[in-house]
Amino acid sequence: MTADAAAAAPVAPDGTALRELLALAERTAREAGALIHDGRPSRVEVAATKSSPTDVVTAMDTASEALILERLTAARPQDGFLGEETGHRAGTSGLTWVVDPIDGTVNYLYGIRAYAVSIALVLDPVRGASEPDPASWQPLVGCVHDPAGAETWTAVRGGGAHLDGRALHAEDGPELAGALVATGFGYDAARRAEQAAVVARLLPRVRDLRRIGTASLDLCAVAAGRVDAYYERGLKPWDFAAALLVATEAGAVVTGFTGGAPGGEGLLAAGPALHPEVLAALAS
Ligand code: IPD
Repeated sequence: MTADAAAAAPVAPDGTALRELLALAERTAREAGALIHDGRPSRVEVAATKSSPTDVVTAMDTASEALILERLTAARPQDGFLGEETGHRAGTSGLTWVVDPIDGTVNYLYGIRAYAVSIALVLDPVRGASEPDPASWQPLVGCVHDPAGAETWTAVRGGGAHLDGRALHAEDGPELAGALVATGFGYDAARRAEQAAVVARLLPRVRDLRRIGTASLDLCAVAAGRVDAYYERGLKPWDFAAALLVATEAGAVVTGFTGGAPGGEGLLAAGPALHPEVLAALAS
């Protein structure tokens, strides 16, 4: 970075401002959650497909993102926005809202009650006004709202993680053989074949595996000790931005598959003692 760029690098808001930003994220996530939960038709139709025929969009994905974009832009016109359905729009503050309007769209489509609205605010000092990159961003606040389960997960950078106001502390976790490990599968068929091979190797070595279908809730489950670990390859930034902060603020270790920053190439979350064991098992 040049000296000029460094001088202009955005600065994270202070603690009071962060709490106000979290309140905005939570208010907005709850409103979007009510929209998708209360407004869910008895038969949900697929409105469009994206990366593959199994990567679907419902009308509610679009409506939820439109509501979130409207609320956040009205309150914070200076911030950027990165949403699953509408992509990136640049801001001037160096801060970007990263939004999944329905994480777990396939669950939502089938009426499985595990889906969430995910809203994070991130600072990317390296990327400035460009689309933020999980390799260099700092998540500042995160809210994952599960409207069907009536649970809300929140986190502020340096301020801890909470589930409905109760502080979360991720456990160290059992040894690998006793670990309940969550994972997920992308929409690309070739990647799924690789993921199936990894599952075949891992399953005999752990207590059991879970495929919940909502990456943000998987990560929050690690924060709350509902699973011991979660890993997935192929996630998009909006799948994990908010829940990553919940997990790390709860004390879980979250890295990529080679130990660096988590991202599309791999994300592994687990308690501090279990994390290296799962990392080694994935590497092998
Ligand atoms: C998906 C879910 C799923 C994960 C996929 C994600 P979406 O997000 O989080 O659990 O396995 O990789 O794409 O498409 O429902 O927002």
